[in-house]
Amino acid sequence: MKKIFLSAMAFMMLFSCQNDQTEATTSATNAVSKRGCAAQDVLAEQMKADPTLALRMNQIEAFTQKAMLTNRLVNGKIVIPVVVNVLYRTAAENISDAQIQSQIDVLNEDFTATNPDFNSVPSEFAGVAANVGITFELVNIVRKSTKKTSWGTRDVMKNAKRGGINPTSPETTLNMWACTIGGGILGYAQFPGGSSATDGVVIDSNYFGVSDGAAYPYNLGRTASHEVGHWMNLRHIWGDASCGNDFVSDTPVHKTSNFGVPTYPYVSTCLPDHNEMTMNYMDYTDDRGMYMFTEGQKSRMSALFVSGGARSGFGI
Ligand code: ARG
Ligand code: ZN
Ligand code: CA
Repeated sequence: MKKIFLSAMAFMMLFSCQNDQTEATTSATNAVSKRGCAAQDVLAEQMKADPTLALRMNQIEAFTQKAMLTNRLVNGKIVIPVVVNVLYRTAAENISDAQIQSQIDVLNEDFTATNPDFNSVPSEFAGVAANVGITFELVNIVRKSTKKTSWGTRDVMKNAKRGGINPTSPETTLNMWACTIGGGILGYAQFPGGSSATDGVVIDSNYFGVSDGAAYPYNLGRTASHEVGHWMNLRHIWGDASCGNDFVSDTPVHKTSNFGVPTYPYVSTCLPDHNEMTMNYMDYTDDRGMYMFTEGQKSRMSALFVSGGARSGFGI
């Protein structure tokens, strides 16, 4: 018991440090690329509000590590039903059905390694580049008009009483919200272990799906690939700390988040000498700069869906 408590504390501290570091990293980066991922911030807030969240997340971590060790991965195919919740004030925010489908298509490509840029993976990383083998099926689109100009990152868009849209069957459905978030945030996700009332991912309407030049360089739907990665328990590749740990052994250590489209090879300043995997979805590069998950990330994600896993409701 004491041990669990201590590791929960360590976990919480890890998160608060990660958070500070993320903020520092983000603000140290030039203004153009100042794009924060709010998933970590939101998690820190939720942890403050609910002390039992760290415990639940710790249990998920223990389960994940065990499921990975014992290799009890998904037997059946995982198809994730998706409901997209659209909140709009302007016509542009009321994104079209086609725009929404384009996002589902990108998720299907990116999670099955059928994305057209998958063959750009450098040979150094080709051996660990993964077909995650999870697909997504759009089952419904819910639309609601609003007077709100932006929704922030405190889950208001997920609450009908506050003008948002409640999630549909969150135990068995991935809910996505398309709305204006504000504050330079492209999207945010809730990690496994959070309340089902707020489960899912939020993607700013401007970066939802594949769009023309307007949302460049975040116009290829990769914000959702990144956020769904978090929703499936992936951490940022730099571990939200300087040369930090993402709990995945086949992703190289990164000094910090990378922006733009770094030229390969991008030599890490973390020791020992190695190249960073800047093309991983869990970095912060432009959409055209990210095009792979690894086998280790696949194992982490898959562990959620086995019997007893935090998202086992999605298994078949
Ligand atoms: N949550 C991150 C953000 O708001 C997502 C970054 C994803 N990167 C991307 N190229 N789409 O900045
Ligand atoms: Zn992120
Ligand atoms: Ca790693």
